[in-house]
Amino acid sequence: MASLGNFVVTYGLLAGVFLVLMWALYNKHKTAKKRIFAFLVSRYMAPSLVKKLHVFKQKLFSDMNTMVSCDPRLKTQGQGMIRVLEIGVGSGTNLEYYTSGCKLISVEPNPYFETHFKKNREQFCHVEVEQFVTAMAENMAEIPDKSVDAVVSTHVLCSVTDIMGALHEIKRVLVPVSSKNKKKYL
Ligand SMILES: C[S@@+](CC[C@H](N)C(=O)[O-])C[C@H]1O[C@@H](n2cnc3c(N)ncnc32)[C@H](O)[C@@H]1O
Repeated sequence: MASLGNFVVTYGLLAGVFLVLMWALYNKHKTAKKRIFAFLVSRYMAPSLVKKLHVFKQKLFSDMNTMVSCDPRLKTQGQGMIRVLEIGVGSGTNLEYYTSGCKLISVEPNPYFETHFKKNREQFCHVEVEQFVTAMAENMAEIPDKSVDAVVSTHVLCSVTDIMGALHEIKRVLVPVSSKNKKKYL
């Protein structure tokens, strides 16, 4: 009986110390946190959301096929040839919905998503990834004013602390559309 008690106390203490150490490490190293978050989202959360939302996303993204770019060079290449900016791209769960020939600029504050994004991107070569920018939606200084035809964001705004700042940036980078086309694009 005494030896069982000793066993429980010893291993209980060891387990407690181990958990405290892990917790301290987890809190101390933001890098590890980001890496773990990127892994968990890419491996578990994203695949389950992909299945659940497939039909909705197909419908939502279908409008892109008829968009005409405001970039004079893309415009001449026909419908669907557009430049899209995706905020909080993560592992790239929206890649499959982009139109063929679409040029994508990805913005993602967590650099550890890039490996997962690149791996996933191999399946969707129809999308040309122009840039993978490590930035927050609130500050996309690397993206020039009025340079993209559409901005996409799914499951991101709930994590953005400065929503107004992010919306301001979105407005800045979007090409303004003429009132004639506004209805079509919004
Ligand atoms: C739940 S994941 C969604 C990933 C992807 N958009 C999707 O639908 O699968 C949330 C993403 O938002 C990103 N994120 C968090 N705060 C952000 C911010 N302030 N600006 C841009 N992205 C942000 C995270 O790094 C993460 O990639």
